[in-house]
Amino acid sequence: MSSPDILKAAKLLQEGKVVVMPTETVYGLAANIYDAAAIRAIFELKGRPSNNPLIVHIKSFEVLQEVAKNIPEAALKLARHFWPGPLTLVLEKQDTILDVITAGGSTVAVRMPNHPIALALLQETGFPLAAPSANPSNYISPTSAENVRKGFGDRAPFILDGGPCEKGIESTVVGFKSDGVYLYRHGAITKEALETALEGLEVQTLTNETASPASPGMLLKHYSPRAKLIHTTDVEQQLHQAQGKQVGVLSFRTHYSQPNIAHQLTLSPSGKLEEAAQGLFNALYELDAKGLDIILAEVFPEEGLGLAINDRLRRAAAE
Ligand code: TXA
Ligand code: MG
Repeated sequence: MSSPDILKAAKLLQEGKVVVMPTETVYGLAANIYDAAAIRAIFELKGRPSNNPLIVHIKSFEVLQEVAKNIPEAALKLARHFWPGPLTLVLEKQDTILDVITAGGSTVAVRMPNHPIALALLQETGFPLAAPSANPSNYISPTSAENVRKGFGDRAPFILDGGPCEKGIESTVVGFKSDGVYLYRHGAITKEALETALEGLEVQTLTNETASPASPGMLLKHYSPRAKLIHTTDVEQQLHQAQGKQVGVLSFRTHYSQPNIAHQLTLSPSGKLEEAAQGLFNALYELDAKGLDIILAEVFPEEGLGLAINDRLRRAAAE
């Protein structure tokens, strides 16, 4: 990445434009948090409902105080442990944070991304950047510049290309209530890792039912490919039922040999969940480009990063 591109992106952001930046999780559609028109342009470009708030990206702990207040000790502990990194904290917002970012709520979601280009861009602009994943609302999150272009076509803004994202799934979103720490979204940091950093304090999970309106992004349907996606523990049985259809298979480590598979992608033949997470969204883009009738996606082990992967696949399968 040449720094002229970062300067160009910073200039566009200063002029109130939206740009695409790489992060360690997925690509983000970024704009100046203090420019209401620029933030509205993000919602418009994504077709995102205005009740779904955005994450504010910051470059340093000093800027954390600029956007949030009354920060709980547990939040500071997590931030010190995981930032820069794929952890988003939902905190009480400062008065200067625009309603359009928080969907009118009193909390703001904040994270410090661990990507040299994102950090250089934040450094160059001087203001924090609001950034949802750089995909049309409900479509698959992009982990490469090419997938951002596939999602937006001609409407794609200026893209800083940082190559493939290291983590491949979005940040873990955590909130704080008087009775403890809550997981709002499974993500690149596991619940176990959070609990270890909190020295054994239990992290409770918000269910889809209890999440709204706390975190509208938890609502079921999301990440949807154009093909019908079936999330299944029994790929062979589903293949049997799908005779005569164009079927794609997305598996964890198993390679299936049924003749009626049109395309098959195996995310980690050696069974590593990190590797599977990294390749997940790219595989969905790849399969969705094949014009299949059905994508059969295996249910992953319900542990560690497998929880975040299954969450994405379950929602991709939602009607
Ligand atoms: O890894 C990531 O988090 C990526 C990169 C670009 O940083 N961003 C991302 O943003 O995934 P987005 O907009 O696709 O997802 C933001 C999630 C949504 O589930 C949203 O509902 C939740 O964070 N969220 C944002 N603000 C919130 C708030 N104040 N309270 C509760 N949930 C919030
Ligand atoms: Mg998203």
